[in-house]
Amino acid sequence: MRARKLRTLNVIRPISAERIASFTTSVFAEMSRLAVEHQAINLGQGFPDFDGPEAIKAAAIAAIHAGDNQYAVSTGQPVLRQAIAAHSQRIYGQMVDADAEVTVTSGATEALFAAVLALVDPGDEVIVFEPFYDSYVPNILMAGGLPRYVPLRAPDAARPDWHFDPGELRAAFNARTRLLILNTPHNPTGKVFSAHELQEIAALCQAWDVLALADEVYEHLVFDGARHRRLAQVPGMAERTLTVSSQGKTFGFTGWKIGWVLAPPALTRAVRNVHQFVTFAAATPFQAAAAAALALDSGYYQALAAEHQTRRDFVAGALAEAGLRVSCPQGTYFIMANYTTLGDRWADDAAFCRWLTTEIGVTAIPPTAFYADEHKHLGREWARFAFCKRQETLERAAERLRRIRPG
Ligand SMILES: Cc1ncc(COP(=O)(O)O)c(C=O)c1O
Repeated sequence: MRARKLRTLNVIRPISAERIASFTTSVFAEMSRLAVEHQAINLGQGFPDFDGPEAIKAAAIAAIHAGDNQYAVSTGQPVLRQAIAAHSQRIYGQMVDADAEVTVTSGATEALFAAVLALVDPGDEVIVFEPFYDSYVPNILMAGGLPRYVPLRAPDAARPDWHFDPGELRAAFNARTRLLILNTPHNPTGKVFSAHELQEIAALCQAWDVLALADEVYEHLVFDGARHRRLAQVPGMAERTLTVSSQGKTFGFTGWKIGWVLAPPALTRAVRNVHQFVTFAAATPFQAAAAAALALDSGYYQALAAEHQTRRDFVAGALAEAGLRVSCPQGTYFIMANYTTLGDRWADDAAFCRWLTTEIGVTAIPPTAFYADEHKHLGREWARFAFCKRQETLERAAERLRRIRPG
């Protein structure tokens, strides 16, 4: 209909709106297609190849049988909002009002979108650390905002972790800055931001009166005794921080898409105003199951972190044995490995990841997809591997990685 009208008017104009003109198919789709084509073991995508706890599945099934099948309350089912608030208090000692400060969304993805759309005006600047989770920049662009990038630099002789330059962060703030997006534990580097780094970020947000959107979906995947710290709990940040998390990464049901955002009442009202017109409500029976999941005792979280630490060590060992230089993550279920130790056969990370898929049979993600053009060179020597897979899958991948020959 629309195409015919355009022809009648003899107007040549692109089908898609200008605000999405820069959007392309994600790198995940491309690498997954290649993985299927070459029957590669897919360590590209960040979801487990196993299910979460049986008891939580049973809770979802029970909710369906009990008739929890119509629209949920838009802000989230009370039982889940209360479970989220109780979890915050139990794990972090953070008091949250389940009615005024918790909103349930369709995964963290919708929480992030609703928050950015609710808070960013056209022309506002939003600070984003690179490499970034891939939905941040499209969200900012859809709101009419302008992303300002602060790159994390790879570990080097002086700093053993991925790190930002405090001067670069300071320089990114100005009177137009509205929001800073922080992801800790950080996908794809596995960095867990330290107390000192969070304080540096917090001081700048306060000095420039900037809001913070903290994406903490990997909050329970932290290793080696490291501790996840909430940006919202840094002094002075509670009133200006929105904390996003979801059940997907913590409980192993990424397909259920239940997420949430915690924020002070005024910010929560703004987020809810968007959420009601985007999805209106998240899936009802999975909200009941997420509430049951959040009620699991802390032994669950300890076992989750310990199991993933074992997987991390296994994959780190396999990659190192294959000749790559591994940057050992403190958190998340991703590991970054530098392939240039294998020689200079590859033009960039995308070429390496394609070769690894087609010739070796293991798929990884090229991280330059998560940098803006001006900083892509900072990621081009690396590949991201997801280790949230069964031991059997990881062993098959390790076996294939042994086929790599340096040269
Ligand atoms: C940093 C980060 N934020 C958000 C998400 C999306 O979470 P959800 O599946 O709950 O929408 C992901 C998923 O990979 C992620 O890595």
